[in-house]
Amino acid sequence: MQADFRDPQCARPVDFAEPDAPDQVVQNIDERGFSVVTMGESRPPGATITSLAAALRLGHPYIPALYRYAETKAYSTAFSDIRSGSKGRHPGFSTTAGQPWHVDGLLDTIGDIKTTILYCVRAAHRGGDTLLFNSPAAFAELRDKDPAASEALLSPRALNRRSTLPDVDVNATGPVFALDEKGDLITRYTDNETCTWNFSADPRGGLNRALAFLRAASEDARFRLAVRLAPGQALVFRNDRLSHGRQPYEDDPDAPRHLVRALYAAAPLGGGGNGLRG
Ligand SMILES: [Fe+2]
Repeated sequence: MQADFRDPQCARPVDFAEPDAPDQVVQNIDERGFSVVTMGESRPPGATITSLAAALRLGHPYIPALYRYAETKAYSTAFSDIRSGSKGRHPGFSTTAGQPWHVDGLLDTIGDIKTTILYCVRAAHRGGDTLLFNSPAAFAELRDKDPAASEALLSPRALNRRSTLPDVDVNATGPVFALDEKGDLITRYTDNETCTWNFSADPRGGLNRALAFLRAASEDARFRLAVRLAPGQALVFRNDRLSHGRQPYEDDPDAPRHLVRALYAAAPLGGGGNGLRG
């Protein structure tokens, strides 16, 4: 995860038709947290995502904790349509606005949602790139430069996220970064309207300095990448290892941007082949 996002190879797509495609995807994800995959199929999006998830041994899609309430049941689907102008009131899914940095699953404990798949049915007329921020790599740099500031990000009281869905008043507090059971850094770094930062958790101002550092780092080309998906391509990324966002976009009214999202508790595993018959 110390990959330099300036490397032009970073976003090179894996062809899902290749028998070792899952191993290539897993290798990319181990090195940089994400992989683009060209699915090259014309099946319905749900079927295409299901075959990709099966090849990566991801198990069943995960329903985020926020979508398990009576008021949010409409969102509790395995595959979420992301397109503007849809009837949904979801603040991120149904608009053409940009999306600031976040991880998926605002109520879920850090590390619970390990994988996000975004499958592109139709790209935007203009804009709409998915943005990726290698926030753990930025954290590692901060740890060397200003250990006290990095420490503030590990506090279990550092960051509260609350629902911005209408009439759904729920929130969750936790650290911005943590170590998983293997000692690897995981993240829930988010910097959007769902966030309340607990600056009083560190009276020496560490959290303030840490936030300023991360905001600058998220503009640094070593850590930040814009990925434009073509129709039929999927982006698979570690939701616990990267923060993500979206550029604003303009639609062609006759062919609006349409992405389909699925979340998984598991991390991708290789070794299983692509499930396609030769
Ligand atoms: Fe997201």
